[in-house]
Amino acid sequence: MSGRGEDLVARLERVMNPGLARVYRFMGLTQVEATGRGATVIDAEGVEYLDCTSGYGVMNQGYLHPRIVAAAREQLERMAMSSRVMLQEAPIALAEYLAQITPGDLTYSFFVNSGAEAVETALKLARAATGRVRWVSTTGAFHGKTLGALSVSGRPLYQDPFRPLLADVVQVPYGNLAALEAVLDERVAAVIVEPIQGEGGVVVPPDDYLPGIRRACDRVGALFIADEVQTGIGRTGYLFAVEAAGVVPDLLCLAKALGGGVVPIGAVVGRPQAWRMFDEHPLLHTSTFGGNPLAARVALEALRVTVEEGLAERARQLGGWFLPALAQVGARYPDLVAAVRGRGLMVGVEFRTPGVAAAVMTELFARRILVVYTLNNERVIRVMPPLVVAKADLERVVACFDEALSAVAAWAADLEEGDPGADG
Ligand SMILES: Cc1ncc(COP(=O)(O)O)c(C=O)c1O
Repeated sequence: MSGRGEDLVARLERVMNPGLARVYRFMGLTQVEATGRGATVIDAEGVEYLDCTSGYGVMNQGYLHPRIVAAAREQLERMAMSSRVMLQEAPIALAEYLAQITPGDLTYSFFVNSGAEAVETALKLARAATGRVRWVSTTGAFHGKTLGALSVSGRPLYQDPFRPLLADVVQVPYGNLAALEAVLDERVAAVIVEPIQGEGGVVVPPDDYLPGIRRACDRVGALFIADEVQTGIGRTGYLFAVEAAGVVPDLLCLAKALGGGVVPIGAVVGRPQAWRMFDEHPLLHTSTFGGNPLAARVALEALRVTVEEGLAERARQLGGWFLPALAQVGARYPDLVAAVRGRGLMVGVEFRTPGVAAAVMTELFARRILVVYTLNNERVIRVMPPLVVAKADLERVVACFDEALSAVAAWAADLEEGDPGADG
């Protein structure tokens, strides 16, 4: 444990989050990050780590992509924030590009600063467009932690302390079309789902799920909100994960990698019929920082980089090799590994217990590989490297995964004994 790290944990404890400080101490995790390049994070002592978390899905284009940094510099020196009185080109150019690259007639964009805020906006747009008040969401879902987004999320641990949440949210099991159809009627404003559940444990639904939701929504006049905050911007081997299913949602939520790992920005992109909220009252929903010139210019460059460098195709190709390679290793440790699943470079490894997941994370960290468990399921660690990662780095991950499992296998029985069990 470095002295600098210990000092930072003590300061964090005094002025930010004492409970989190205890977690850092318990994990002995006090390395201080200094910078990053591509898929690599470098700590204050110059030690390099391969980042297989992408900062929770933010770094699809890699750390400090030169084109994205140059765009940020250029805009920063010209005009970072806006008077908000005069016209600004940057957000309009970003909305134009989003209209061009998103599927179908997704046309209009509203810009915010985070994933949760994108979800909040989509929920309000759906109410205003339909005049209805009920939302349908799925168990295990993660849509953010503001009150509205939390209301449609699917984990009691994060919800119960804040009840009552929004009334009239109906939750159904993820991936089960019949269960969803059974609760869909003319009272429903919108169905909100992730095309692949990220924090729920990288859960891939059956192939007919998203097309089925689209049909079911059309039948009762409800809107379909696709939360692509984590799956979007090339992660799953498509620019947007709904494309794999050939589905056009009414509202598409984006954030995380939309900012190119350089700025925070989120967006809701909508079809014309979902955009009624702004028809009568253009200021019914607003955000001071939303679509500011700096964030908008950087996001446009991040999207261009993603498209022009073919990062979605790269995720598909690398993932097509990487996922089966990890699964092959996992299959040799059936007492530890329950499943390896995902799409593109959105990969989840499900372990038999949260204790095994934590032990494997520690072993990988010792081998300078960063992974982290999913927020709604501690038995699953996500392996989500930046899409610019080199194949040789992924080969190292596979080899280290094998070493880590073999080390954990030696003491897994002891770990499981005192384990409280999974609650995800
Ligand atoms: C699918 C999904 N939606 C929404 C969010 C919330 O995003 P934020 O943390 O930027 O509010 C997340 C964050 O992990 C997410 O994965």
